[in-house]
Amino acid sequence: MKIAFWFLLLVTINLSALEKFQSSQVCQKCHPIIYKEHFSSQHRKASIFNDAIHKAVWDKHPLKKKDKYVCAKCHTPNDARIITALKNKEAAVPKQNKAQDEGVSCVSCHNIKSIQKHEKSNNNLVTTDKKILYSARESEKNEKDKKYKTETSMFGFVTKESGSPFHEIDFSNKIFYNGNVCLGCHSHKQNAHGLQVCKMDQNATSNSEKENCITCHMPLVQGSFSTIKKSKMHRYHGFTGTIHKPEMLKKYLDIGFEQEEKGFSVKLKNHASHAFLLQPLRLGQLHVVIYRTGKKISLEPKNFVRIIGKDKKPAPPWVATEVLKNTQLQANELRSVHFDVDLQSKDELLITFGYFVVNPKAVKKLNLASHKEFTQFKIFKQKRFYVK
Ligand code: HEC
Ligand code: HEC
Ligand code: HEC
Ligand code: HEC
Ligand code: HEC
Repeated sequence: MKIAFWFLLLVTINLSALEKFQSSQVCQKCHPIIYKEHFSSQHRKASIFNDAIHKAVWDKHPLKKKDKYVCAKCHTPNDARIITALKNKEAAVPKQNKAQDEGVSCVSCHNIKSIQKHEKSNNNLVTTDKKILYSARESEKNEKDKKYKTETSMFGFVTKESGSPFHEIDFSNKIFYNGNVCLGCHSHKQNAHGLQVCKMDQNATSNSEKENCITCHMPLVQGSFSTIKKSKMHRYHGFTGTIHKPEMLKKYLDIGFEQEEKGFSVKLKNHASHAFLLQPLRLGQLHVVIYRTGKKISLEPKNFVRIIGKDKKPAPPWVATEVLKNTQLQANELRSVHFDVDLQSKDELLITFGYFVVNPKAVKKLNLASHKEFTQFKIFKQKRFYVK
């Protein structure tokens, strides 16, 4: 008797836990292409268990000693246990489970009703009606609650389905059209000393419907968005970025070249509505190689960084009080980088813009040396020029 009672209790607890957390796996059945893309994205890999860089920084963070994983708000928002523990001021230590493994999951975004602005960092206000998912569709912009329906016509010979048999859809939420849905997590992050450790540009936060976070980072790609209702194209859910699929963003950086009276300059035009690299860990670099009659001349690389620190010295994000230096390409900036090297007729130039995901100066401190994908120079875009 006793065993049966406990068994039943366990089953009910497990079921209600499942209900609270809608796993991305339940979406896979009807949205397999999107699921697969999302699985390879940094969003899915945002927890300490799947992102070595995030783990490395967390391991050094003073709040780790206090068992307060405050990163959950943006990195693993569906781990209800941690979010509740943080609210109750109890120990909140990440343990590997499904919610951690799914990171910023499907419902982490599709449940966001609105964004609440806040000085330290914004908040995502999520719907309490878990059956409703928000999305964008131009042709149904006013549809607030699309339910599943089947209609029979032609004397019962043709059955037409519309809506999803699993969830309802609200197409009227503006933030899914102008990209502001991203700004609960991506707008800014201020530390205890009032320094904006990360900050999205004003240009980007005044997203327009024509060009915004979604149009650049979720471009339309081939393949149906669902298995039931078919479409030719869908929004890419791998999220193009510094780590995953940067090649899909190549067109947003132009590389030009201009010979000058003394030397030459490289022109870099950033078409992104925010600084080209946002994370203070990144180091951008411009490389120029001149090929001259069989010889290869490599010029000194130029760095693009945003260094935060204290008392004029670089410091970690939780200590920093000021920005010491910022040479990152800014939103929509056209930068001219001068090289004091005279060119000769028939010189060939190979110009490369790329970056280190983790600045080589921070690799050792963070014990990331074995992660070659983050410590090696990554080419973003290359162009060749010929001197007449
Ligand atoms: C049983 C199948 C099924 C499951 C499971 C399912 N969906 Fe859907 N979903 C659909 C169908 C069908 C549509 C298209 C409905 C229509 O517009 O007629 C749809 C539409 C959507 C849309 C809006 C599409 C648009 O054009 O903007 C979103 C967003 C969405 N689903 C997300 C999810 C998420 C997130 C999950 C998991 C929590 C999920 N779906 C689970 C079948 C499903
Ligand atoms: C307000 C939301 C928010 C909070 C809270 C937050 N992060 Fe993040 N974090 C982000 C976003 C958004 C990115 C992606 C930004 C980018 O790539 O420029 C990110 C990226 C990172 C990265 C870079 C990851 C990579 O793969 O290169 C590290 C490291 C990181 N966060 C550490 C932390 C730690 C540690 C905490 C908790 C102490 C934390 N974050 C809390 C939003 C947040
Ligand atoms: C980081 C936020 C984010 C995550 C995570 C996310 N989505 Fe989306 N998704 C969006 C946004 C924003 C749109 C609206 C883009 C549009 O239709 O213009 C969208 C569109 C969609 C659409 C319909 C539009 C289309 O043509 O592709 C479906 C279906 C969908 N998402 C399902 C999913 C599923 C399933 C997952 C998880 C495997 C998921 N989403 C994860 C933000 C997200
Ligand atoms: C719930 C919080 C959250 C929301 C909402 C969110 N993101 Fe993110 N995003 C993150 C975090 C956390 C990371 C860093 C993950 C990591 O690398 O550890 C990230 C990383 C990224 C990256 C970097 C990917 C790479 O490969 O370098 C891009 C691009 C991005 N997000 C775009 C978007 C866009 C576009 C939207 C809106 C449609 C969005 N995000 C909505 C939390 C969020
Ligand atoms: C016009 C296109 C464009 C728009 C609009 C845009 N981005 Fe980007 N984004 C880029 C480019 C280009 C890069 C740099 C390429 C790379 O990271 O490899 C980038 C990089 C990023 C990164 C990675 C930065 C890092 O240091 O790791 C994040 C996160 C991101 N964008 C989020 C967003 C969000 C959120 C919005 C909306 C507020 C947005 N972007 C709007 C083009 C765009």
